[in-house]
Amino acid sequence: MRVLGIETSCDETAASVVDDLNILSNVVSSQAIHKKYGGIVPEFASREQIRALTPIVESALVEAKSSFEDIDGIAVTCGPGLAGSLLTGLNFAKGISLASNKKYIAVNHLEGHLFANRLSDTNLKPPFVFLLISGGHTQLIHVKDWGDYAVLGSTLDDAVGEAYDKVAKMLGLGYPGGPEIDRLAQKGDPSFEHFPRALLGKGYDFSFSGIKTSVLYYLKKQEDGFVEEHLEDISASFQGAVVELLTKKAIEAAKFLNIDKIAVGGGVSANSTLREELNSKSEAVGIKTYFPPISLTTDNGAMIAAVGAYYLEKGKSSSLTMNVYPNLGIEDATD
Ligand code: KG4
Ligand code: ZN
Repeated sequence: MRVLGIETSCDETAASVVDDLNILSNVVSSQAIHKKYGGIVPEFASREQIRALTPIVESALVEAKSSFEDIDGIAVTCGPGLAGSLLTGLNFAKGISLASNKKYIAVNHLEGHLFANRLSDTNLKPPFVFLLISGGHTQLIHVKDWGDYAVLGSTLDDAVGEAYDKVAKMLGLGYPGGPEIDRLAQKGDPSFEHFPRALLGKGYDFSFSGIKTSVLYYLKKQEDGFVEEHLEDISASFQGAVVELLTKKAIEAAKFLNIDKIAVGGGVSANSTLREELNSKSEAVGIKTYFPPISLTTDNGAMIAAVGAYYLEKGKSSSLTMNVYPNLGIEDATD
């Protein structure tokens, strides 16, 4: 089944054509404007998406050597995300569905991050534990089957990507902060400063607001020039605390459920220290880990097309009265 996937839940405009879990094209356009403000400005995001959608979808089709006639359906993100951004994508998909007379299906963005793993490793089969770590979410999920999920724990405050972005801002780094901190941390000493590991050993919920505040107070008390001089060590110390939390909790959850597989998804799953740590610590206790390739960690259309194909093949599709769900959870049904 060949599906066109469209993703506009945050600042990206992305489209992709996927054919039976083969990615024929994957086009992503990120918006530079938000860098200037150190975060996403929702109104700018949706305005830019209105402009970008037609050329991005055209590029995805051209790159896949496909036309609307060749595709079997359209998949589009309907939540969670920014309402205005979600609406641009959903309405665009409804329009091309009507014009091309192809079925369309509204897809859960969080399920998309999960399906990035299905796309990248077709050997991955449920049940497994899914660690979802993005700019908006931090959750441990029991994937009982594709489409059957139970949330084991969630962040009580900030998402891990959000903590990365806020700490990066405090350090005077650009947006998004995760890749920058990750790059600096590779050259730093993670034992330089000990930042708190909230809720470690206390179940599957997370809390990242404490570490963010503790970095803030730590930075405030330093002399001029100290932070610039020790950017790499401070980044490594922050990253070390975050990675220890994510790694230990994911492994604890897998052990609790007696499951020997952990898959990771969302923007923060690009993190190099997390990849090393989770791989080695899991392997030591007989657990196999799955990470999507870097190109499928952040928001993209291929993961949305993969979810769409799964449900379209089961005979599901969405109606033209479908709405957006800015606060959709992974367990929520959309119809
Ligand atoms: O999944 P995503 O593209 O968007 C959401 O659905 O939220 O995730 C974006 C987040 C940002 O907070 C960004 O800083 C973070 O992923 N991120 C990283 C890395 N690459 C992206 N965080 C840590 N290390 C990275 N290498
Ligand atoms: Zn995302």
